[in-house]
Amino acid sequence: MASLEKARTRCMSGEMQYYHKETNTWNTEEWRGKKAEEVEERGKKAVVVIMADPWKECMDHCLEVTKEAGKMIQEALQKDISIMQKSSPVDLVTETDQKVEQLIISSIKEKFPTHSFIGEESVAAGASSNLTDNPTWIIDPIDGTTNFVHRFPFVSMSIGFAVKKEIEFGIVYSCQEDKMYTARKGKGSFCNGEPIKVSGQEDITKSLVLTEMGFKKDPEHFKTMMGNIETILTIPVHGIRSPGSAAVNMCLVACGAADAYYHMGIHCWDMAGGAAIIREAGGVIMDISGGPFDLMSRRLIIASSRTIAERISQVIKAFPVGRDDIEG
Ligand code: IPD
Repeated sequence: MASLEKARTRCMSGEMQYYHKETNTWNTEEWRGKKAEEVEERGKKAVVVIMADPWKECMDHCLEVTKEAGKMIQEALQKDISIMQKSSPVDLVTETDQKVEQLIISSIKEKFPTHSFIGEESVAAGASSNLTDNPTWIIDPIDGTTNFVHRFPFVSMSIGFAVKKEIEFGIVYSCQEDKMYTARKGKGSFCNGEPIKVSGQEDITKSLVLTEMGFKKDPEHFKTMMGNIETILTIPVHGIRSPGSAAVNMCLVACGAADAYYHMGIHCWDMAGGAAIIREAGGVIMDISGGPFDLMSRRLIIASSRTIAERISQVIKAFPVGRDDIEG
């Protein structure tokens, strides 16, 4: 066995050739910036084994289970939907939310028994929503439950996978549109297999902004939320839209159909899948304060450019929303 560094230097200088085991090709250039696992020197040749993606199997399984769960949601949309209330008359849940989450968690648990889960419906039933360093699947079985019960066409399933609190990949399936958004850290964002990227818009006056309007028990918070919408509209921007699914909103910015999205009061399961997709599509994701994005903070700004994200952060007012990792 030769040392990796020595072999790398000799390959880069052309003294040695490097063989990529995955693609079965000889190359010297392709090694640049790549992490290799081991190297074996054979005369003037080096056989290099490029480090396998440790989470590839998880992402492949995630895609399979998302497809299966997506079918379940599509079928449920054809039948009667029985609705239950959660924390308030506008916080809804259906049997399908619960069944889909059970399907996803049981399938993943069977394959990866040591992994952790944060699922919207499990948390509603009393499970912890603490994010640890353990590989963790963050799941929203139906993002846009209100849309689902009204058959308003933006209903999605969102899964984000975090390791050491860093999101490694995200998958969002917009069920009625049949759009499968996927992103793996460092490997780009895709919609139905085609690469996507943000619009790159820098001028907020030419932007389409997304946000969501939810019931706020506290009249002060309600006033702030409506005041923020007025502030953004009077910048002015081209318009504001509320599609009703946080994960879809993030994907709409990721593919350039909108230029920004801000929200206070959502949860980690609404944001985890989309966070990977927006980042890999070249977008910016930050906290409402303009600081770094915090998955457990229940708030975010995303945009096609830092200029637009920062402008939104400067003009809107925050109201307290609590955290996902603190009970109550
Ligand atoms: C909701 C959607 C909606 C947002 C709510 C979320 P859910 O998710 O993302 O756009 O306004 O705050 O709770 O409850 O349908 O999974």
